Amino acid sequence: MKFFIDTANLDQIKEANDLGILDGVTTNPSLMAKEGISGEANFLNHYKTICEIVDGDVSAEVIATDFDGMIAEGEKLAALHPNIVVKIPAIKEGIKAIKYLSSKGIKTNCTLIFNVGQALLAAKAGATYVSPFIGRLDDISSDGLQLIEDIVNMFNYYDIATQVLAASIRHTMHIVECLKIGADVATCPLNAILGLLNHPLTDKGLEKFLADYHKLNP
Ligand code: G3P
Repeated sequence: MKFFIDTANLDQIKEANDLGILDGVTTNPSLMAKEGISGEANFLNHYKTICEIVDGDVSAEVIATDFDGMIAEGEKLAALHPNIVVKIPAIKEGIKAIKYLSSKGIKTNCTLIFNVGQALLAAKAGATYVSPFIGRLDDISSDGLQLIEDIVNMFNYYDIATQVLAASIRHTMHIVECLKIGADVATCPLNAILGLLNHPLTDKGLEKFLADYHKLNP
């Protein structure tokens, strides 16, 4: 399973990249706003900077919601760097834009996926990735992980090449469950990635190893 970081924060992206395990980055307009980024030029510069830090796919989301606007933005974003993936919402015009951009060889990530039907249409349009949102389904008493499993099974059954990118991951157990289900990618906040390392027996064991060493090597 590939690991993407779900943030537009450059320090967090660098920290995750320095671990040596980062395969890519996902952003969205809310994450860009959190970093105080506004204006087209600043958006484009920020995406370029992320692409210079991480050697992997970087999702950059369109703002337009009409076909012409989405493809114009998508082409501009894709021209920034070969690793840019154009992120497009799972709406009617979005599916048409994914079909157009994928036919031009531009990678796409269909976002805001909340059911298998949306994932199927995005895949049929040629999306590189679909992004089902786990946490936001859990928030409304639905089962986000079940959706990941249903889409993984559907893509396996029909031999569909589109990758399942599990999004809206909120904690470490979401990542562990995605591993069991067979998601292709998990895009995670930094604290959820680092949370995978937490184990009291690791801390206790290391403390004892070092104490034993220092007894004979004062
Ligand atoms: O990848 C999508 C993600 O950024 C949404 O996460 O926590 O806002 O539901 P969240």
